[in-house]
Amino acid sequence: MTDLLIGQTLSFAGTPVTDGAGAARHSARGGVIVEGGRITAVGEADELRASRPDARVTDYGSALISAGFIDAHVHYPQTAIIASWGKRLIDWLNSYTFPEEMKFADPAYAAKIAARYVDLALAHGTTSMCSYTTIHPASVDAFFEQARARGLRAWAGKTCMDRNAPEALCDTPRSAYDDSKRLLERWHGVDRLSYVVTPRFSPTSTPDQLAAMGALWAEHPDCLMQTHLSEQPDEVAWVRSLFPRARDYLDTYEAHGLLGPGALFGHAIHLEPREISRIGEVDASLIHCPTSNTFIGSGLFDMDGLARGGHRIGLATDTGGGSSFSMLRTMAAAYEVAQLRGHALHPAKLWWLATQGAARSLRADDRIGNLAPGMEADIAVIDLASTPAIAQRAARAGDLWEAIFPTIMMGDDRAVKAVWVGGKLQ
Ligand code: GUN
Ligand code: ZN
Repeated sequence: MTDLLIGQTLSFAGTPVTDGAGAARHSARGGVIVEGGRITAVGEADELRASRPDARVTDYGSALISAGFIDAHVHYPQTAIIASWGKRLIDWLNSYTFPEEMKFADPAYAAKIAARYVDLALAHGTTSMCSYTTIHPASVDAFFEQARARGLRAWAGKTCMDRNAPEALCDTPRSAYDDSKRLLERWHGVDRLSYVVTPRFSPTSTPDQLAAMGALWAEHPDCLMQTHLSEQPDEVAWVRSLFPRARDYLDTYEAHGLLGPGALFGHAIHLEPREISRIGEVDASLIHCPTSNTFIGSGLFDMDGLARGGHRIGLATDTGGGSSFSMLRTMAAAYEVAQLRGHALHPAKLWWLATQGAARSLRADDRIGNLAPGMEADIAVIDLASTPAIAQRAARAGDLWEAIFPTIMMGDDRAVKAVWVGGKLQ
């Protein structure tokens, strides 16, 4: 079966963060040909219709056809505690997160929340995500089973902790290594799934556990490695007291083999100059989680400085420290955070960060995150007039970006008209 999707199309021929909005490609009446799970052509609707008369046509009118959103850092087990009031990071973990994560000792609960999370993500137009789990191996199985059942390209790993967490949420260096290895061997490369080596963060891992994670990653360098870095000042001070010989927070990872091109560092707000240059040198990724950083009171990520420095940056909800499942709301928060630092992020940059930029941070931009021949057909169709408030503002738009920006700032799952995953309509 060949499909032709018709609507406004938006894709990228370059990187708006460095090349400006001219890197975007837009057609007011464009089309996308989908065959065998992949995009095989992108062009003008009339031309594609004439050249492929066999194709089944789905006409989305004036809706925007884009690559599906990619969420580069989520904690699916925190789905049910999103929007929990009144705490900063360490108290928030102890009060809300750890008690909830203990429930994942029950595989049936893990399966229920994994299904709920994946369905919520899809309803918000998110077609790929990179998730933390809990210390329980069954929480990893639960996530991958749900993602696989929906055909998603998804990343996840067992969250490892062996100190400064409740007893029931602690593994050991040995069990963390063994369980992670077993899960990696079970899931990495199955269908569209990838395993990610996942020490939660330095405060909850002993040096021995960090070294065990580093050893596992060295044995599987094709895997990504995800963790948290410099989210709140109290956390940075805690890391300094736990690792008195480390040069800085990043060094607690680097010294244990956890710094390399496939490393993903969530938050990365309160960075030292050495950390910034070292991350740039190895070309690791920084994951910006703006709704989380305002919600938990963490601080203002330096998008402008880090992007100009050439850092690889992804965008993410950080569900459920983040306050939304929506990458539209996440783009809005990224815009607001940049404004608070004195920079207006162009809508082209925001959209790119939520699609191709996030894919690039996961080193998968050769497969997902853009509408282009050869890419996997993960597509979100976005209604740019999904509520009366958005519609009335978009009606005044003088150009494409003015038409899109109200949806970025005010849109949610009501804007998601259709989602295609691996060439299949969800
Ligand atoms: N740092 C360590 N664990 C977490 C987590 O679950 N959420 C956030 N936002 N930061 C963390
Ligand atoms: Zn996180």
